Amino acid sequence: MERIEIREMKHRDISTCEEIVRDEWGDVAADRAHDQMIRMFTMRPADSPQFYVAENAETGEVIGFSAFEPTSLMKDTYDFIWIALKPSARGKKLGTLLTEVRLRDVEKRGGKLICLMTEKPGFFKKFGFQTVEIFDGWNLMVKKLGKVEI
Ligand SMILES: CC(C)(COP(=O)(O)OP(=O)(O)OC[C@H]1O[C@@H](n2cnc3c(N)ncnc32)[C@H](O)[C@@H]1OP(=O)(O)O)[C@@H](O)C(=O)NCCC(=O)NCCS
Repeated sequence: MERIEIREMKHRDISTCEEIVRDEWGDVAADRAHDQMIRMFTMRPADSPQFYVAENAETGEVIGFSAFEPTSLMKDTYDFIWIALKPSARGKKLGTLLTEVRLRDVEKRGGKLICLMTEKPGFFKKFGFQTVEIFDGWNLMVKKLGKVEI
């Protein structure tokens, strides 16, 4: 049984994660993910995106990643901005681990509302997200954690 570690992204993981995005959604999405990953290492931590990776502890291979980012929409509001695994790593509960770590850290920061866009609403429903509207196949989903304030 492979041992998988979920940890914070390091700068050296950027190119692997960018390629995971490119294979799934193409060049434009990969460029956008790249810029967001760079921001994790250049911005003040409290304002920057926060990325995590899933790594095979034996081989050191990064097989997936996820991220959240604070938004200025309201006080203590956050976006879940990416989650993707290499095709061979799917269906093994790693997406669950990469989402649980985001939920845990947003809760630690006192987050009150999380928003995301996804083509896979069934996956996020399991974590308590509800679809608000669907745009071109993308579900805008939200999860309320506490009282929303301005
Ligand atoms: C979507 C994704 C992150 C899920 O990760 P995963 O590790 O394969 O999922 P898990 O094994 O943790 O599955 C957890 C649960 O969600 C369900 N699930 C997984 N993918 C699903 C999907 N596409 N639609 C509906 N339910 C899904 C599983 O059946 C499982 O249900 P269970 O708890 O009843 O057994 C992964 O398949 C992936 O990287 N897909 C490509 C990128 C992508 O679509 N990202 C989503 C953002 S748009």
